[in-house]
Amino acid sequence: MITARSTPNIALIKYWGNRHNEFRLCANDSLSMTLNTPSLDITIDHADTLSITSTNKEMTEKNILRFKKTLELIESYLGTIEPTKVSNLSIKIDSHIPPAIGLASSAAVFSALAKAISGLVDFDLTDEQISIMARLGSGSAARSIFGGFGAIRNEENQFIDGCKGWQVADEHHWNLHDIIIVPSTEEKKVGSSEGHPQAQTSPDFAARVDAINGHRQQECIDAILSKDFEKLQKVAEEDCMEMHHCMQTQDPPLNYLSDETYRILDEVKALRKAEHLPVLYTMDAGPTVHLFCTDEAKERIAEYAHTQEGCQIFEASIGPGAHLV
Ligand code: PMV
Repeated sequence: MITARSTPNIALIKYWGNRHNEFRLCANDSLSMTLNTPSLDITIDHADTLSITSTNKEMTEKNILRFKKTLELIESYLGTIEPTKVSNLSIKIDSHIPPAIGLASSAAVFSALAKAISGLVDFDLTDEQISIMARLGSGSAARSIFGGFGAIRNEENQFIDGCKGWQVADEHHWNLHDIIIVPSTEEKKVGSSEGHPQAQTSPDFAARVDAINGHRQQECIDAILSKDFEKLQKVAEEDCMEMHHCMQTQDPPLNYLSDETYRILDEVKALRKAEHLPVLYTMDAGPTVHLFCTDEAKERIAEYAHTQEGCQIFEASIGPGAHLV
């Protein structure tokens, strides 16, 4: 029996769209910050059949199928290293992450699952190999294997391992915070797994992939390595709004942002201009607004967030990534 703990990561360069749907090979490189909270634990053991329980999510047939498919893919990937049976496991998920509110619970789930599997098998796997296993369940999960700032890079092939996670900088490099404003806790109707395969139908998708793989990912890496918040803000906000534009122009269109999201963005822009605050906004597949800021701005941004009526507020900082406990 083995337990792994992991947390969500929030992307600064967003992954949107696949170049291979079954293997979840991401169309574009991406980059995120791994959070220190909220966390979840996954405990696994060998079993005769697959069984999954979760403390805060109903295990529907669709959910169980996703695990089944992921474990089959992990097993075939492990077959390229050392053939190992991992499709029959007992899986217990003990989660403190509210599901489907834009807090990337699937990234935490599948990074913890991959990390736990690496502890169950009787040979060593590198973080890069564990990130590949995580990606087979959820593309963005590859980044939560790493503490600090994790990224995904593509290789020019269509193999199951053709898209890998890596660490840009660890959690001691730059202590950023994420003040999270959740306007709605309604479960979203279309999840990102259903949205990715349709991304190519946006007329602006190809240009987005070229911009990221051509220069934007590198600009974001440079901003992080040189701790240049202004540069990070520019590149992250541009990328976030461009991803939402692609989502809104794909077929069928996906609109994850709400009036509340736009109102908060306007207020944050006005606040940072008036008070010269190092804060940036970003949103994933939901109306939740993530306000990344430095130590200097944290108190003021948290104060602003707590004035939002009817919203849930979470406060997180940079975290250590998936680990065995
Ligand atoms: O890993 P998935 O399939 O949950 O996709 C994540 C998509 C976004 O959250 C919108 C962007 C990202 O890079 O995390």
